[in-house]
Amino acid sequence: MNPVDDATFTKPLVRALHRHTDLLADSIPGTNTHDDHQRRQRIAAAWVYLSAVLAWAEDHRLVDVWLRDGLKGMPGRFTAGHARPVVALAQAMGGLTVHPATQWLMHPAYNQALHEGSPSDGAVQALADWWAGDAPSLAYETTAGPPSISGWLIGDLLQSITDERRKGFALAQTPWWVADFILDRTLIPAADEFRRERLIRTIDPTAGTGHMLIRAMDYLWEWYTTGSLRPRQAVGGPAASGGTRIDPQHALPRVVASVDGVEIDPLTAAVARLRCTVYAGHLAHTAGYATGPLRLDTIPRDLIPRVGVADSLLLGKVTKGEYARVHPHLAALPGASFTGGDWNHDTPAGRPEPAPPVVLNRQLDLFDGIAA
Ligand SMILES: C[S@@+](CC[C@H](N)C(=O)[O-])C[C@H]1O[C@@H](n2cnc3c(N)ncnc32)[C@H](O)[C@@H]1O
Repeated sequence: MNPVDDATFTKPLVRALHRHTDLLADSIPGTNTHDDHQRRQRIAAAWVYLSAVLAWAEDHRLVDVWLRDGLKGMPGRFTAGHARPVVALAQAMGGLTVHPATQWLMHPAYNQALHEGSPSDGAVQALADWWAGDAPSLAYETTAGPPSISGWLIGDLLQSITDERRKGFALAQTPWWVADFILDRTLIPAADEFRRERLIRTIDPTAGTGHMLIRAMDYLWEWYTTGSLRPRQAVGGPAASGGTRIDPQHALPRVVASVDGVEIDPLTAAVARLRCTVYAGHLAHTAGYATGPLRLDTIPRDLIPRVGVADSLLLGKVTKGEYARVHPHLAALPGASFTGGDWNHDTPAGRPEPAPPVVLNRQLDLFDGIAA
């Protein structure tokens, strides 16, 4: 059983998040027109969604615990008598952006609605009190499928409390058992056929928040560390064996280098980057070679999943100039390619660590080979 499939767990959670979205929206100054109502709902949903991502991160101790503590006692945040919950929440959310791969979650070009307005302190405190009190833990046990550290739930929540524009891109993600079935029928035969290859390369050209990427990472981790793979859903189907077993420390960069994603919606892609980064850190911890607790600010800073933000229907088919005419916003988006020059590797957690000896994190040029 996996709580992401259990409506008695997910429905009340989504209902409560909708209720808080309405409360936050009502607290944002505006008019009573339909357009303004939509604007305030969009802003409120951005705040509520990121609070859910923060709660998930706090529940897994990836960041310091502030929201689950009702935003109380953040050192140096408040001056006496001038507690500003909305400022405290924004600062606590900032903890999600300390890794180079996760710096985009609050970036105005990725999460525009978050910057379009602020809910009231009262509404934010009510949200924080709910996270500190009645809200369920987002770190849960599973007996099948992806563990809670995979961020499956926060991936699904984006589509549950998302805005209309994202719905227009058809963000409806694949259940884990369907993703596994597809990987059973594609990745396993590929691993068997290309067992002597150093990398089994995969791509999800419409990656969403990374459901397929996460499951592919899980399969590839098994393949590289054990040299074999058995189907998880298509039981009785073909297996793969005879791969070269490598130690987990060397397997991890290969897993990251084997999985590519492209996603047209910047915030959706930013969530995929967060999830894949954390999941890679989690794999290192389960293998026992990474020491200390798993935290966002200690995951190696060169461990960056390759999730580009782009229209995958046009990549490789049009020039950069043509692309910019169709998608001016995407063409100008910082960090759209994988670790291009516009990636800030000097995010607040400190200076980047030196690159690992295995150079797999090559720069991804979204317009590779197409003349300007
Ligand atoms: C149905 S979801 C699939 C998500 C993921 N592949 C999964 O299996 O869970 C489709 C995703 O494709 C994205 N998308 C739609 N058109 C796209 C395009 N032309 N290029 C890149 N991504 C696109 C949407 O924003 C959405 O997140």
